[in-house]
Amino acid sequence: MKLLVTGGAGYLGSEVCRQAVERGFEVLATRFHTPPPYGMPIHLDVRDHAEVQRVLMRHGPDVVVHTAYVQGGPAMAETIVRGSRAVAAAAHRSGSRLVHLSTDLVFDGEQGAPYAEAAEPRPLLDYGAAKLEAECLVTQAHPGALVVRTSLLYGKPGPQEALALRDDVELYTDEIRCPTLVDELAAALLELAELDVFGPLHVAAPDAISRYEFARLLRAAAGGDPDGVHGAPSPRYGSGSGRVRNVALDSSKAAGLLPTKLRGAAAAIGLSA
Ligand SMILES: NC(=O)c1ccc[n+]([C@@H]2O[C@H](COP(=O)([O-])OP(=O)(O)OC[C@H]3O[C@@H](n4cnc5c(N)ncnc54)[C@H](OP(=O)(O)O)[C@@H]3O)[C@@H](O)[C@H]2O)c1
Repeated sequence: MKLLVTGGAGYLGSEVCRQAVERGFEVLATRFHTPPPYGMPIHLDVRDHAEVQRVLMRHGPDVVVHTAYVQGGPAMAETIVRGSRAVAAAAHRSGSRLVHLSTDLVFDGEQGAPYAEAAEPRPLLDYGAAKLEAECLVTQAHPGALVVRTSLLYGKPGPQEALALRDDVELYTDEIRCPTLVDELAAALLELAELDVFGPLHVAAPDAISRYEFARLLRAAAGGDPDGVHGAPSPRYGSGSGRVRNVALDSSKAAGLLPTKLRGAAAAIGLSA
């Protein structure tokens, strides 16, 4: 299989590439600034519609896994919305299957958790709104696209691991997520690449836990004292600095499809906080 992964140097993208190379796939890993550690690097700025078309038509991958994004800043909307639409249109034109990455933050977390695929998205944050707009444009441009919504990723040194070790931040006791091991998600994505499923699919670990509980687990696993993690309720979102509350995903549909079983954080980290 020929696989093209956008964001080949990213936290998730690099793990997808690593596992795909290990499985013997031909792997094209797109490079923006950072060189991808696995696969054949190809420069790609997803905001450049013409470059996206050129790369996909030239290489004709069987499957595109679209992870590239930025979570904030002036380039966010252009990268997430315009970039995702460009990738979807080009993947459709080149006859490639598309697995598009999205987020639990398309939901507002106020009621209805755990959210199944049929739940109505209502993002609270600009990031979630951009990801939802991208989902809609991707589905229009490539009706066969699979839209994978997932939650906080962890499992190799990254933002969650760093946050859990900081003494100067408060971790919210009422922000509920389904933290998911990046290597298990990558394995699931490679399985989904070969299945005939499309539309939104929730792919996250089954345990819904707070950011605070999650940080305790990570700190303990790193050999630290979990009681050193500072917990606090989140500010109201109306204050401008707020967060979503309970955006736990119901991933039972994916669990029924996938050979890879995603483990909850307590079981995966192997400790209890
Ligand atoms: N991480 C999480 O906890 C989480 C949770 C839910 C959903 N997701 C979703 O999972 C996906 C991957 O997340 P991640 O954490 O792996 O992201 P990441 O580590 O921040 O990686 C993002 C990648 O996108 C690349 N990129 C940025 N702008 C680009 C552009 N204009 N053109 C091409 N590439 C560009 C970056 O390249 P450079 O490094 O070279 O700048 C980087 O390789 C995202 O779609 C995200 O919405 C992530």
